[in-house]
Amino acid sequence: MAPQSMSRLASIYSFCVLGLMVMPHQIYGSSRGSLALTSGISDHPPADGICAALVTIHGYKCQEHEVVTEDGYILSVQRIPGGRVGVAGNGDTKRQPVLIQHGVLVGYWNWSWDELAKFDLPAVFDYVYNETGQKIHYVGHSQGTLIAMAALSEGLLVEKIKSAALLSPVAYLNTVTSILGVVCREAIVANLFGDSAFDPKGQLLPFFNIARTLCDAPGIDCYGLLAPLTGPNCCLNVSTFHPFIRNEPQPTSMMNIRHCGQSIHEKVVAKYDYGSSEANTARYGEAKAPAYNLSNIPKNLPLFLSYGALDTLSDVRDVNLLLGILKPNHDVDKLTIQYINNYAHMDFIMGVNAKDVVYSQVSSFFKNHTGF
Ligand SMILES: *[C@@H]1O[C@H](CO)[C@@H](O)[C@H](O)[C@H]1NC(C)=O
Ligand SMILES: *[C@@H]1O[C@H](CO)[C@@H](O)[C@H](O)[C@H]1NC(C)=O
Ligand SMILES: *[C@@H]1O[C@H](CO)[C@@H](O)[C@H](O)[C@H]1NC(C)=O
Ligand SMILES: *[C@@H]1O[C@H](CO)[C@@H](O)[C@H](O)[C@H]1NC(C)=O
Repeated sequence: MAPQSMSRLASIYSFCVLGLMVMPHQIYGSSRGSLALTSGISDHPPADGICAALVTIHGYKCQEHEVVTEDGYILSVQRIPGGRVGVAGNGDTKRQPVLIQHGVLVGYWNWSWDELAKFDLPAVFDYVYNETGQKIHYVGHSQGTLIAMAALSEGLLVEKIKSAALLSPVAYLNTVTSILGVVCREAIVANLFGDSAFDPKGQLLPFFNIARTLCDAPGIDCYGLLAPLTGPNCCLNVSTFHPFIRNEPQPTSMMNIRHCGQSIHEKVVAKYDYGSSEANTARYGEAKAPAYNLSNIPKNLPLFLSYGALDTLSDVRDVNLLLGILKPNHDVDKLTIQYINNYAHMDFIMGVNAKDVVYSQVSSFFKNHTGF
């Protein structure tokens, strides 16, 4: 599995959002690229790889950054410091930083999203805050929303975040109908029976291989193939979808898949269950994996939450559970909710009309909430 392609996927996600973001912002996108410092794995993405392949060709300046986490991972972060080169009004005015975090289908092995919430996001926030001297607007999609909510509920990021836009929010997975949910559930069953050979990649990769083959044939509506995974996206176009499927989406870590299975099974938003009271006690000081208390998300933090009726990963019923927790606590004027009738999971990051339907709303939201 090539870390490079995973990072590339991450920035495709980012690019779709950031390419369309309205101006006075500078954009950062990050991914738990790949490598443990401590294990000495050294297949780094080449410097400038992601920027050159995906960003500068569209006329933006782009810088590659590396952020080291407390647990020894190097995150690859791309920074777009301003608007399109040569466009009037895109000079070096002081810009507001926006951090964009992609979703679930990228990764490496030995972590669950607890680590992303505890180490990765805080490391990137620290880095961007230090570089810019400004608090940060956050945009998360899918798992990128989950880790932000988890981090915030643990009191992390709070000092450095200005607002958060949560697209296809994922917290509860009680009614997830995506085939990814099936794989997550199977991972739990396999684990119960000590089936170490269970391989989620083995289950999902044939799906992607077929998709890739079909998408290379001219005139095929290949994006319809995503429906079992994401719901029936209304608004994808070959031009955005092709690079995505070509860059081989890699299923995430085994631990993350199991964590997903635990969420589905237990119907709570909790930390990773290490499987026995001894192991949990060693890790957490308590026999059960502790729940994240989402009511701890600061009630005056501006939140923009956008969800789609046809999304099978961020199911409407699960989003309503989340809203049931957030709404009673949150300051009314700090919570903006958008419900999109014809959107599924990928439309939020690749929909041909996402610029008008979603990003323009996110942009106005950022403009209206500059003071947290
Ligand atoms: C994964 O990390 C845990 C600690 O977080 C460690 O106990 C375990 O041995 C690691 N597994 C692998 C395969 O590296
Ligand atoms: C903070 O930013 C300064 C200036 O860019 C840099 O020299 C320093 O190493 C940064 N510190 C951290 C902890 O990133
Ligand atoms: C859809 O993709 C085609 C082929 O790449 C492109 O010509 C067209 O402009 C795209 N349409 C939209 C709405 O982006
Ligand atoms: C969760 O957080 C809220 C708000 O901070 C607090 O009132 C509540 O007691 C917490 N619940 C648990 C179970 O800790």
